[in-house]
Amino acid sequence: MARVLLKNVTKMFDDVAAVKDVNLAIKDKEFVVLVGPSGCGKTTTLRMIAGLEEISRGEIYIGDRLVNEVPPKDRNIAMVFQSYALYPHMKVYDNMAFGLKLRGESKKEIDTRVREAAEILGLTVYLDRLPKQLSGGQRQRVALGRAIVRHPQVFLMDEPLSNLDAKLRVQMRAQLQRIHKQLEATIVYVTHDQVEAMTLGQKVAVILNGELQQVDAPLTVYERPTNRFVAGFLGSPPMNFFKGQVRKKEGKYFFECEGFKFEVPADVAGQLASYVDREVSFGIRPEDIWDIPSSGWIDQKFLIETRVEFRELMGSETFVYVKAGPLALTGRVGAMADPQPGSKFGLVFNLRKIHFFDPETQKAII
Ligand SMILES: Nc1ncnc2c1ncn2[C@@H]1O[C@H](COP(=O)(O)OP(=O)(O)OP(=O)(O)O)[C@@H](O)[C@H]1O
Ligand SMILES: [Mg+2]
Repeated sequence: MARVLLKNVTKMFDDVAAVKDVNLAIKDKEFVVLVGPSGCGKTTTLRMIAGLEEISRGEIYIGDRLVNEVPPKDRNIAMVFQSYALYPHMKVYDNMAFGLKLRGESKKEIDTRVREAAEILGLTVYLDRLPKQLSGGQRQRVALGRAIVRHPQVFLMDEPLSNLDAKLRVQMRAQLQRIHKQLEATIVYVTHDQVEAMTLGQKVAVILNGELQQVDAPLTVYERPTNRFVAGFLGSPPMNFFKGQVRKKEGKYFFECEGFKFEVPADVAGQLASYVDREVSFGIRPEDIWDIPSSGWIDQKFLIETRVEFRELMGSETFVYVKAGPLALTGRVGAMADPQPGSKFGLVFNLRKIHFFDPETQKAII
């Protein structure tokens, strides 16, 4: 396996930059997920690593080798695409063996590798079947098998699970993590699904408009987003944002907007010093907004009176969509809370979990 290094990589399509000056270091054996909205440049980045797309500027290294001029077949990578396009007339075994046959591997070597990959993927009993005799998840695993048998230095995966139904996706996520451990593989995985990004990667790289926004461990990205876009992109329902002013009175800092006003906890308030009497964006995630009965343990809190617009009963929890004055916000409350549409409902902000963003640069202040 090998590391992958992108240095100031840019891709222009005519005069439009699809990928802008990306610097990304993927360690040997690391599982990195590229995530971002449609059209942000994920596939283009992956295709440049694979050598399927020329680089306009910058350098890409696989292992210690600069691969800018190395053709795809000599990069020792395997790519798994969203559409897995198996050969319909070939049995599973032959689908997996095909690439190795083309490379002129011996029959014995091919057999060893195919059986080994089939074992890892739980496909051994299906080796004699045709693709049409398999379920979607099984076919997807064959596509993965085709990559595994090649013993590549790096796996590049472009939304490989997006054709599967929700339940199969969850199963395949678990399987991919297992495979990653077992093969000690370097994996670069592209998805626009933030749940996949959070659960699969050791590192998440968030991209917007061709620019890398943040590269960190999933929980770091979630808990300490570097800017407002990252904060809003990861998490469902998304973070609530409110524009308002920072005020300072008698040494205390307050955040004030049309719907509410609260004192910012002293341990973080200092970071707002240069924003006094200026506009900021305040952010809080739905799961950091509690119903009153469940909020007893919270040591820094703010109680807000709201009116319930509607709710979504999830069984294990309830999403409550409320208005505080003119402002709409979403809270995630206990399944027992039972907020009634149209009624008043008290909610509690956990002030240990608040975020502030600069309204101009969008960068995180706290
Ligand atoms: N061959 C091409 N010629 C011109 N523009 C292209 C080409 N390929 C991609 N683009 C543009 O580059 C940008 C990035 O595309 P890319 O396919 O990398 O996005 P993506 O992040 O993979 O999106 P999705 O989640 O929809 O797959 C888009 O604006 C797209 O229209
Ligand atoms: Mg894509």
